[in-house]
Amino acid sequence: MKNLLHLNKYLFQYKTLLFVGTIFILISNVFALYPAEFVRHSFDNIQESISNNNSENSIHFTLLKYGGLIILFAILKGVFMYFMRQTVIVMSRKIEFDLKNEVYKKYQELSLSFYKKNNTGDLMNRITEDVNRVRMYLGPAMMYAINMFFLFLLVISKMFSINTHLTLYVLIPLPILAVAVYFVSNQINKKSEQSQAQLSTLTSITQETFSAINIIKIFRNEENSFTRFYEECKNYKYKQLKLVSVEAWFFPLIILLIGVSTITTIYVGGLESFEGEISTGNIAEFIIYVNMLTWPVASVGWVTSLVQRAEASMKRVNEFLASETEVKNLNTNNTPISGNIQFKNVSFTYPDTGIRALKEVNFKIKENETLGIFGKTGSGKSTIANLINRMYDRDSGEIYIANTDIKELNLFQLRRNIGYVPQDGFLFSGTVSENISFGNDVVNEEDIVQAARTAEITEEIESFPEKYNTIIGERGVQLSGGQRQRISIARAIVIDPIIYIFDDCLSAVDANKEKLILENLRSKTKNNTNIIISHRTSSIQYADYILVLENGKIIEEGKHNNLIQKGGFYAEMHQKQTTENT
Ligand SMILES: Nc1ncnc2c1ncn2[C@@H]1O[C@H](COP(=O)(O)OP(=O)(O)O)[C@@H](O)[C@H]1O
Ligand SMILES: [Mg+2]
Repeated sequence: MKNLLHLNKYLFQYKTLLFVGTIFILISNVFALYPAEFVRHSFDNIQESISNNNSENSIHFTLLKYGGLIILFAILKGVFMYFMRQTVIVMSRKIEFDLKNEVYKKYQELSLSFYKKNNTGDLMNRITEDVNRVRMYLGPAMMYAINMFFLFLLVISKMFSINTHLTLYVLIPLPILAVAVYFVSNQINKKSEQSQAQLSTLTSITQETFSAINIIKIFRNEENSFTRFYEECKNYKYKQLKLVSVEAWFFPLIILLIGVSTITTIYVGGLESFEGEISTGNIAEFIIYVNMLTWPVASVGWVTSLVQRAEASMKRVNEFLASETEVKNLNTNNTPISGNIQFKNVSFTYPDTGIRALKEVNFKIKENETLGIFGKTGSGKSTIANLINRMYDRDSGEIYIANTDIKELNLFQLRRNIGYVPQDGFLFSGTVSENISFGNDVVNEEDIVQAARTAEITEEIESFPEKYNTIIGERGVQLSGGQRQRISIARAIVIDPIIYIFDDCLSAVDANKEKLILENLRSKTKNNTNIIISHRTSSIQYADYILVLENGKIIEEGKHNNLIQKGGFYAEMHQKQTTENT
């Protein structure tokens, strides 16, 4: 149970709801208790009337009176049950909301290496499935547990006050019922988890088909893909049927044990009544008590398995909540950022793969300068960008920005001043404007248009049906790779950062547009530091300084002309690329 302790802070936060809910549960149970007594009175009255030869009229009145009372109490019980759900279940929904937000916030805090270690499905499950199970503990499980407690207390003490002997007999089947239901509901949970897992496999297969439908059609892969679906679907059916066969045990089991208790009541009660220990009305009363107890006893098993599941889920959630962010913000003060960047003997190994991506890298750029980083795929170019925007922290060496150790800068201020354009140009589903401003409310329309102009994407945006309000992405206009890249460039430009990092983001833009964008940037960003990462010499030939990387090492550096004169790797690649283009 120790994992569920994390939730105590929330229970404390919503203590009023929980407290009031508990009171409602108690009241509804009190109202549930009396009808059994009214039934006893009715029976006893009938008996009395028969032996006293009373008129039919008087019994008529008595029966109507008790009937009315039973209805009245049932209504009152119902009203308080309504209030009980309105408090306890509402509390669980509120905690679910808070917990989801807590987990999501934590997700956003955690560094990239965390995401490399955990797969997406797993992360999604924790915020949906696992949180939901925790909610089942806070809502239904807790409500039934409190309900059970009061009901047992009230009903059993009532039964004992009437006849100890009969009570003991009647209670015998109940523990058996509780244990049996526990086993059955455990099986149900296990089976339903298996079928749930199969369902998610099925979903991801279907999803994959949808997103790759064109490839499937072109390669005439329909048959194959159908077979795959068919097999998984069959598997799902099989798991569902197993679940159904276990579930089928549930109600018969309960009804059997209710039956046993009822028969015991009548048999033992009949004997007691014959001996004059209790009245016949008491037998009827006991039958009602037994029926009142069965469902809660059955739910002991159910609640236990709910709590166990919640405990397991909360353990998984807690694991995440307890994970430490590797990249920490050590400074919340204002720390001025400038375009002065220096790497001193910086080495870096990706923690998950053990790949040594940078080896003793040294360079320096001043404000207003442009640095070009050149190298083949996998040479470590993006890793330099990752270290500058602190997606990771370097292993050894030093990185200075504005002559301050990068770790001593306010992390959020640092990132706020970096305009990063990633390689893949990811866009969110939303309008063009939203994608450029990215929810940044200081950005106005004028800025957006200006940024689009710098990124040379205005012409295309103007041709879209709704211009800047056109929805792009999955449910809207589909953009080409180059258009996506240019919108991502506009997104970086709009925040007016001090440092620009263009990570190979011009690869899908044609040579003409590339040249224009670079010119725009040079005139717009002449007060900024630009880092242009590329595997094409054309993108970086105007840089003030160029680093040539291979296997994480700087193998050549200098200005474009010097590198060409040197006749090394860079010159060779330049030669190749320019002849290819002509
Ligand atoms: N997130 C990551 N986790 C583990 N290894 C990575 C990661 N990103 C890159 N690498 C590895 O580090 C090396 C350098 O990669 P990267 O800096 O992305 O190269 P480039 O940008 O020049 O193509 C490659 O061998 C790559 O496989
Ligand atoms: Mg890269």
